[in-house]
Amino acid sequence: MRDAQATTIYLKDYQVPDFLIDRTALHFEIFDSHTLVHSTLAMRRNPAAKNASAPLVLDGCELELEALSIDDQAVTESGYESAGESLTIHTVPDSFTLRCTTRIYPQNNTSLEGLYKSSTMYCTQCEAEGFRKITYFLDRPDVMSVYTVTVDADSKRCPVLLSNGNLVSTETLEGGRHRAVWEDPHKKPAYLFALVAGDLERVSDTFTTMNGRKVDLHIYVEEKDLDKCDHAMLSLKNAMTWDEEVYGREYDLDIFNIVAVDDFNMGAMENKSLNIFNTSCVLASPGTTTDAGFQRVEGVVAHEYFHNWSGNRVTCRDWFQLSLKEGFTVFRDAEFSADMGSRVVKRVEDVGLLRTAQFAEDAGPMAHPVRPDSYMEISNFYTVTIYEKGAEVVRMIHTLLGPELFRKGSDLYFDRFDGQAVTCEDFVKAMEDASGMDLGQFRLWYSQAGTPQVDARGEYDAEANTYTLTFKQSCPKTPGQPQKEPFHIPIAMGLLGDAGALRLELKGEAPNPDTADNTHTVLHLKQAEQQFVFENVPEKPVPSLLRGFSAPVKLQFDYSRDELLFLMQHDDDGFNRWEAAQQLGVLALKELVAAHQNNEVRALDERLITAGRNLLNDDSLDLAMVALMLTLPTEAYMAEVMQPVDVLSIHAARMQARLELATALKEEFTNTYRTLSRRQGDYQPSAEQIAQRSLKNLCLQYLMLLNDEHSLQVCMEQLDTSDNMTDRIAALVALVNSEHEPQKALALQKFYQDWQHEPLVINQWFQIQATSHLPGTLKRVQELLNHPAFEIRNPNKVRAVIGAFCGQNAVNFHQTDGAGYRFLADRVIELNTLNPQIASRLLGPLSKWRKYLPEQQALMKAELERIAAEPKLSRDVFEVVSKSLA
Ligand code: PHE
Ligand code: ZN
Repeated sequence: MRDAQATTIYLKDYQVPDFLIDRTALHFEIFDSHTLVHSTLAMRRNPAAKNASAPLVLDGCELELEALSIDDQAVTESGYESAGESLTIHTVPDSFTLRCTTRIYPQNNTSLEGLYKSSTMYCTQCEAEGFRKITYFLDRPDVMSVYTVTVDADSKRCPVLLSNGNLVSTETLEGGRHRAVWEDPHKKPAYLFALVAGDLERVSDTFTTMNGRKVDLHIYVEEKDLDKCDHAMLSLKNAMTWDEEVYGREYDLDIFNIVAVDDFNMGAMENKSLNIFNTSCVLASPGTTTDAGFQRVEGVVAHEYFHNWSGNRVTCRDWFQLSLKEGFTVFRDAEFSADMGSRVVKRVEDVGLLRTAQFAEDAGPMAHPVRPDSYMEISNFYTVTIYEKGAEVVRMIHTLLGPELFRKGSDLYFDRFDGQAVTCEDFVKAMEDASGMDLGQFRLWYSQAGTPQVDARGEYDAEANTYTLTFKQSCPKTPGQPQKEPFHIPIAMGLLGDAGALRLELKGEAPNPDTADNTHTVLHLKQAEQQFVFENVPEKPVPSLLRGFSAPVKLQFDYSRDELLFLMQHDDDGFNRWEAAQQLGVLALKELVAAHQNNEVRALDERLITAGRNLLNDDSLDLAMVALMLTLPTEAYMAEVMQPVDVLSIHAARMQARLELATALKEEFTNTYRTLSRRQGDYQPSAEQIAQRSLKNLCLQYLMLLNDEHSLQVCMEQLDTSDNMTDRIAALVALVNSEHEPQKALALQKFYQDWQHEPLVINQWFQIQATSHLPGTLKRVQELLNHPAFEIRNPNKVRAVIGAFCGQNAVNFHQTDGAGYRFLADRVIELNTLNPQIASRLLGPLSKWRKYLPEQQALMKAELERIAAEPKLSRDVFEVVSKSLA
């Protein structure tokens, strides 16, 4: 474990490296008891370095040094100094060969950083700073090197030996061992290095690029998973085609490998030509994987593939620039998924995550800009802000420039910086240079944290036929940033009249020639307060604002409920139709929360019931939209719009509203369910089928709230007869959250028996139980920790049980006696030594303690203090705990 040091690293202290590494040759000797790593580095002083006589300071962490030489002269113990995570050699020539041998123990590495063992397989994870757990190096992304990697291991236990680039030779060695040598012609930073050794099988295919390069594609998995690779392979080929068509980006080697591993801290990793995936993000089959799972595989496979350009060919100068690759790549994968499936559904899902998880992060103690100014532990900065808000910032550039100029900008960016390690500023500048647009003020999105609040109001002047929109923007203070400048906010919008969309004539602006009908525009909100006057407006319009969620802000406009109902039906923008339904739901739920807090009985606004009925009876609507619009705002979103957060009242209000909808619309739900269950062919993860299943299963959920025999029967039948995991899981979720006790217990038992050989399915089984909103769940979760299928060292299991309970089960996590908080603190303390990254990620829900009611705040804070008092905290946990309590 890395010791807690309160050292903070600042962007403003960035300096170019003192040394460069032109070539890196690594030789791994993998044995059961340990691994030896012999490295040969061709190094020289960086001509651009400030200090031409600086000592050589190498990064290294938890390494046993066995040999060290410079130009074949041994460096004796007096010649170097080793402290903390570095090794310093005081005098070195201007250009030299450094050799060193380190001994490491992959089988004991539970942090899953560096070289580690996942069941019988050896694999690496080097982003962000894992390479220093393998050998001494300049472990920073602006040091790029060409690698040759030799791997020796036992032929039986590790028949497959992989690294980046091309396989150049193989050899049989003495003692039942063998060797493979890999060469990667592309310069890369150490974080993109990868090695895999194990007993794996593979599925293969080929792809021919736009310029005729034939690429061999392989997905390596355990033998039992060979039947679950087709979807990932198809997604990979689709992603390769899409990147050629949409960005003009072609793949640049003759081989592309994906390896699936069970134990992985994140979703997947874009190592050059050797992507390593969490099994949960690559394996899929109709029998074992839900629709959401199929979509995740498609999205993550594409994301990692897209990194080959946005991340690998053009990489980050330093880790403060992390969003340069992550924000851009998330934007790219989101657009890919939108093109493959349903654009509006994808947008609704992404905005849901942004407005709950990211807005909460931006309002909490760990709030940081898309380009942070400082950090203690970089692993803590793989956040929804870097990824999702970062993607929104790129999306806004896309909105401001339009697709053609954006493409010109991305071409310029890739062209200008190919083979370099660059900054967010370089990206924005390329966009600016290619488009001629001034993005000066826009850059604040990279440097200022916090979610802007935008208050809008509209005024119609019936005499002058003008409609005036007035916007005010502000941004709450965040740690280290007490004051903010106004942002440049693109507000995509339209005006709706009784007969449809109105033509827009913005005062002082020539009509926009791009939109033939001129009913849609993008306003540039740049000032703290700003007015836009529309002329020749024949009637009082209802404005449709922030279409497609054109900026990551909190928008407030005082719509009447009837106006929201109108937008739900008539807005041309699908996203805003959904948004109108959400805001109507928010208003109705707020009313019920208030009633609950005052111990009053109040019925759900009738208009929601009528709207729901209309949605279910209208055959012309897209089924996915119906399902989305019939879903009330989540508890997490309600927590975002009502502070302090009264978790129990929000839960009670939402349950009441759902039950009232179920009761009033029983017939409609029953009929829709029936029609949709009849409609099925062979399982396909297509947008059309996914839409059908989502609406069908939403109906089932509502019906199960009625707690009657008929619904139970329908649910049990779906559970027993479904041919796909989406429908099976949906039925099991409905059952587990119902009061049908004996059926529930039996179904859970049977499900386990049926699927115990499929770890990914068992993770779902864990998660379903951990997210049950019924009382007694914490006790069940504690039992699950002792279940034979649970392993504290496997991050997927930890996420399925502990993460799900603490992060997706607000009523139970926040139970009034504080037992949920105590449970989490105990697990964090346990994981702090095993896997600091996972421990620190789990802390999220506790870190936001200031949002809750006073009694809960006190209990949450006490648990944070208990963690803080632990004698040996990892840097990861230390940073989150100390910032949360500051
Ligand atoms: N860079 C990876 C991605 O976004 C995520 C990752 C980060 C994986 C750190 C492992 C460790 O695709
Ligand atoms: Zn990424």
